[in-house]
Amino acid sequence: MEKNKYKLQDLEKLVSLAKRRGIIFPSSEIYGGLASVWDYGPIGVEIKRNVKNLWWKSFVTEREDIFGIDASILMHPNVWKASGHLDSFSDPLVECSVTGKRYREDHIFIVEIETKKEKKIISVEASDEEEARSLLKDKVIKITNLPNSERKENPSPDGGILSEARNFNLMFKTFIGPVEDSSSTVYLRPETAQAMFVNFLNVLNTSRKKIPFGIAQQGKSFRNEITPGNFTFRTREFEQMEMEFFCSPDEDEKWHEYWIDFSMEWFKKFGIREENLMIRKHGKEELPHYSKASSDIEYLFPWSWGELETISNRTDYDLKAHSELSGKDLSYFDQENNKRYTPYVIEPAMGADRSVLAFLCDAYCEEETEKETRTLLKLHPEISPIQIAVLPLSRNEKLSEYSRKIFENINKKFTAQYDDTQSIGRRYRRQDEIGTPLCVTIDFESVEEDDSVTIRHRDTMKQIRVSSDKLLDAINDQINSFS
Ligand code: GAP
Repeated sequence: MEKNKYKLQDLEKLVSLAKRRGIIFPSSEIYGGLASVWDYGPIGVEIKRNVKNLWWKSFVTEREDIFGIDASILMHPNVWKASGHLDSFSDPLVECSVTGKRYREDHIFIVEIETKKEKKIISVEASDEEEARSLLKDKVIKITNLPNSERKENPSPDGGILSEARNFNLMFKTFIGPVEDSSSTVYLRPETAQAMFVNFLNVLNTSRKKIPFGIAQQGKSFRNEITPGNFTFRTREFEQMEMEFFCSPDEDEKWHEYWIDFSMEWFKKFGIREENLMIRKHGKEELPHYSKASSDIEYLFPWSWGELETISNRTDYDLKAHSELSGKDLSYFDQENNKRYTPYVIEPAMGADRSVLAFLCDAYCEEETEKETRTLLKLHPEISPIQIAVLPLSRNEKLSEYSRKIFENINKKFTAQYDDTQSIGRRYRRQDEIGTPLCVTIDFESVEEDDSVTIRHRDTMKQIRVSSDKLLDAINDQINSFS
């Protein structure tokens, strides 16, 4: 596939394309939308489905050592007690005395600045020091991350005074049944992972598989994030694609490396440019409570590098915690070596929405042509929502009849769309903008003279004439030229 040379700098361009072409809409838009909640439209749903199917194929069906499940979002509350989410899945927040607005403590920078008239202390909200400095016009004398616990009053970014930090649990609560009390409280899962741990024995016993093996699932997770944003990057409802790989404790590091490489190759295979991907190893201080070691695969989004996937060595933390609280033995007997142990777990945890966003950002391209700026999505053909668009030049009866036959033939092997509305130029523009790799154009000559059609290539705009009986082979060759 020809490399995309364009680098998207302004996320708004993608947001507006997504709205215009039915990829992603703001949720409940007719009521003014709901902050940071998004809906996938007719084109977006196909893109997301393709990404999820490619993940499922690579991580589950193409392998003999991974099994899929599809568990419920609501789980027994003890699951979250054992996993540690009830106690430690929280962010420290500070609150403004005037507006009541809450901020993540680590996103507040207290700054001493010097203006023309005076020196003063203010605060700004930013995700890191570099961003905080870029928001300030005056001379910075001192900048410290987090409010100072020794100072009596820390200013808030919106005028008041900041409270001391308090922990805020990120899990959404709801009630099961008609009575709303603590005995009926349940949580919307904040990760899909726990279902794989609590089903470990079920899968082990029904699959008759020996360790190492994995359990995978895709599904919605919910987190009451304090600072959602950057389109679908951080939202409160999102989809995850996670796999728990159970291995022997002395093979954990080998498998950890394996799954980092495997995941990286997966993103590259489906078109993300290598220079926009990196692996970032977590420092000890940022490791989640369950992890011995974690590495992120990050993508260079228009605003900065951002995490797409975390691959963690969760050790035997979860299985042991569930064994203890449930009283069920979740250890494993290794017959070959005649020893019993609690398996270690390597977890590649990917976000479906974030991956879709990265695929879209990486595919976005603007090209100057003689007449206009051409916008296109250089998506991998297996991610494109439509692979082949069939475009008859007119709605003439004979032409339509011929074109329908061509369409039906193509649609048996590829995801195709028939479109006979508007001018051909507009139709090409629409297909370019939703990432359709090939357009098949049918004209009067096709019907009346040569029984041949034109194939137009999305990226090069080159056109070739092919006789209808060789069309499927020619499409196959052209589609392969993208990968
Ligand atoms: N089971 C481990 C786990 O959930 P995580 O790093 O918190 O690990 C895994 O989440 C992936 O889920 C992230 O790399 C990201 O792609 C996605 N993700 C997490 N929080 C998200 C959010 N608020 N919005 C969108 N995607 C999110």
